[in-house]
Amino acid sequence: MDQLNSRRKIDNSREFLAWSEELSVGIQEIDEQHKILAGLTNCLFNEAILNKADPAIVESILNELMQYTQIHFSVEESLFRIFNYPEADSHQQHHTELKKEVFEIKEKFLNGDSVDLELMHLLREWLTKHIMIEDKQYTQFFLSKGLKANWPKSRSWIGKIWDSMHLQ
Ligand SMILES: [Fe+2]
Repeated sequence: MDQLNSRRKIDNSREFLAWSEELSVGIQEIDEQHKILAGLTNCLFNEAILNKADPAIVESILNELMQYTQIHFSVEESLFRIFNYPEADSHQQHHTELKKEVFEIKEKFLNGDSVDLELMHLLREWLTKHIMIEDKQYTQFFLSKGLKANWPKSRSWIGKIWDSMHLQ
């Protein structure tokens, strides 16, 4: 709750990582999670670069970015296991590298480095490349296994996956 409250005060007005259909993997739930990652990147850009915000604010965004990256990658990796995705190992390796990069940004920041424009460009490149290259590779496989591109929002996601696999 504290995080939600503080988020409202965090500026994400300028879109450094703008969402576009080009970034869609064609699965609504995953797209929504990717939009949250883009939003956190935009918060970081606005606060660290444009607003020169207090280090505590920048640190809180870096923490959120790290946490959400981990949650989102875990969701994708759960899907790999549920559907026995053949590219799981190499994809997870990319996740491990990306998590390490984000962790290192935070470590360097805590050791006195600033979050500068060069670093923001790197972050944007890592995220967009990962979505457009690795993530888009799983879409057809997941859809062929029963995952739906869109689901009504009334039920839990894992429940829906389970039904689609077992109630034909
Ligand atoms: Fe991924």
